[in-house]
Amino acid sequence: MNPTDLPRGWPLPDEAAQAASDRLARLLRERIADSAERWIPFDAWMEAVLYTPGLGYYSGGAAKFGEAGDFVTAPAVSPLFAWTLARDVARVLQSCGDTILEFGPGDGRLCVELLFELDRLGQLPERYLLLERSGSLRARQAEALGVLPEALRSRVHWLETPPKDPLSGVILANEVADALPVRRFRRTQDSALELGVALGEHDRFRWAARPAGDLEERVEALEASLGRRLAPGYESEYHQQLPGWIGVLSDSLARGVCLVIDYGYPRDEYYHPQRHRGTLMCHYRHRAHDDPFLLPGLQDVTAFVDFTAMAEAALEVGLGVVGYTAQAHYLMGAGITGILQERMHDAGAELSLRLSQQAKTLMLPGEMGERFQVLGLARGCDVTLSGFSAYNRLERL
Ligand SMILES: C[S@@+](CC[C@H](N)C(=O)[O-])C[C@H]1O[C@@H](n2cnc3c(N)ncnc32)[C@H](O)[C@@H]1O
Repeated sequence: MNPTDLPRGWPLPDEAAQAASDRLARLLRERIADSAERWIPFDAWMEAVLYTPGLGYYSGGAAKFGEAGDFVTAPAVSPLFAWTLARDVARVLQSCGDTILEFGPGDGRLCVELLFELDRLGQLPERYLLLERSGSLRARQAEALGVLPEALRSRVHWLETPPKDPLSGVILANEVADALPVRRFRRTQDSALELGVALGEHDRFRWAARPAGDLEERVEALEASLGRRLAPGYESEYHQQLPGWIGVLSDSLARGVCLVIDYGYPRDEYYHPQRHRGTLMCHYRHRAHDDPFLLPGLQDVTAFVDFTAMAEAALEVGLGVVGYTAQAHYLMGAGITGILQERMHDAGAELSLRLSQQAKTLMLPGEMGERFQVLGLARGCDVTLSGFSAYNRLERL
């Protein structure tokens, strides 16, 4: 793409990053031009821009996380997130298993802070498994883990594919489900169209619609579940990969609890009439926007999660759905206020101020508190999770 397509004032990528993006764009143009319909469905686009080996957003070398990257996730906002999560994780480890498996561990911060805190609580796991598809992120995680003493560090192992033998303990997935490629559709008066990517003038990527094929039935099933039809012109996402992903979580868990944390809604809010342009969200250098064609491979492309679909998929594979609530309520129930007070008591004025500001970012409705949801899934583990004790909104699913 032409860098001048970037909105005014947005930082330009460096030369190497731009060249990598141009290479990926070329591959995508060829793929579109070679396809029978001169079009690829949106999930194929999303898969390619996130995961093409060496060039995709998660498989290339971009900074991604933190101040120098494109977005900040809860573990990077504050260690308070991990310290608070540790309370429920410790409970499950005490009663139901000895292993933690983290999906998509990003820059490794959740793992580091959880291990420090579980050590403090006297409830270390035997093994902490990191399931990471991206080689560059695995290297980054190894670097982050360098701060751990050997007694903790030696418990961490990387997996490139889900474990062959299901484990007992805890599975964690923070901001992973939003990175699963989605299909996009547009309702019409009497059918549905699938939205995908074609080439426009000057070979620019552009949205284009095709008859929806099997997606039409899925949209009708969504409408049946909502008890209403979506209005003509309504556009949104369909999470085709979610059931398969929940199946992978389920196959990985013999006994224990799985906590899935992400931005999303129950189905009736997800497909709310006012959300008629869907939920796609892209991140480039801390700017959130909805143009997935910008700088292929250099920006994160995500969609909000349909938590009802996730719960349905979990029930389908025999997992219990034990809790669903907003991140703020989860952290409150799990004791973030007490943990904050305890840490502020031991800290100087500057650190105390920082921690209380970080707590606000995690908790406030306009920040991460309401947008992010926590879903608790369980198998053969009857532990009460404190995070769902303050306000469990299972009935919303
Ligand atoms: C937005 S990042 C979140 C990182 C981290 N969990 C955090 O909270 O900072 C998404 C992560 O999910 C990983 N990922 C995406 N799809 C995955 C899958 N199917 N299985 C495991 N990890 C996946 C990516 O490689 C990346 O590490």
